[in-house]
Amino acid sequence: MSRARIAVLVSGGGTNLQALIDAQQSGIISSGEIVLVIANRADAYALERAKNAGIDTAVVLKKELGSAEAFEQRIHELIAEYRVDIIVLAGFMVILSESFTSAYPRRILNVHPSLIPSFCGEGFYGLHVHEAALAYGVKVTGATVHFVNEVPDGGEIILQKAVDILPDDTPESLQKRVMEQAEWKILPAAVEKVSAELIQ
Ligand code: GAR
Repeated sequence: MSRARIAVLVSGGGTNLQALIDAQQSGIISSGEIVLVIANRADAYALERAKNAGIDTAVVLKKELGSAEAFEQRIHELIAEYRVDIIVLAGFMVILSESFTSAYPRRILNVHPSLIPSFCGEGFYGLHVHEAALAYGVKVTGATVHFVNEVPDGGEIILQKAVDILPDDTPESLQKRVMEQAEWKILPAAVEKVSAELIQ
């Protein structure tokens, strides 16, 4: 295998996907190649980012397919069709079942906007994570990239980076700083690390 084949699963704006595309273009990611972007929403702006980079896209809608099982089955089919080695969840707001995650042990990565095990698990996603950190009053937060298993946000940690919370932070300002200082750095680094280990 010369380069690991990567699928990125997205739901929204796709700034983490953009960080991966940029890292691939600048050579920070050299051991892997994004071959497919899958969205669970037709209006995800991440799809535009993929198209602009010339990457194939697919939209998989649970509502259209009728069940969570059929939704995951369609993703399995796409992963097989594109001969994907590594699946990256980059702002993918769906909890995958154990039957899905157990099919790809140490092959699914997720980026989460806190220092796991704080502010993670079911219900902690997107801006809610930063709201919870501010409500608790922690002075340091950050981001985590981890392998995905059957426990939401519970798989082995690959990389983490801490970010200071400032006195006048809002959930929005904190989300932006965590993305800029942590997520957009550690996600490409973790993807390169796992890809390099895989192709060795
Ligand atoms: C990111 O902050 C990501 O860490 C978070 O959603 C945002 C997606 O932004 N993911 C989760 O909360 C998953 N539990 P993006 O679409 O711009 O990458």
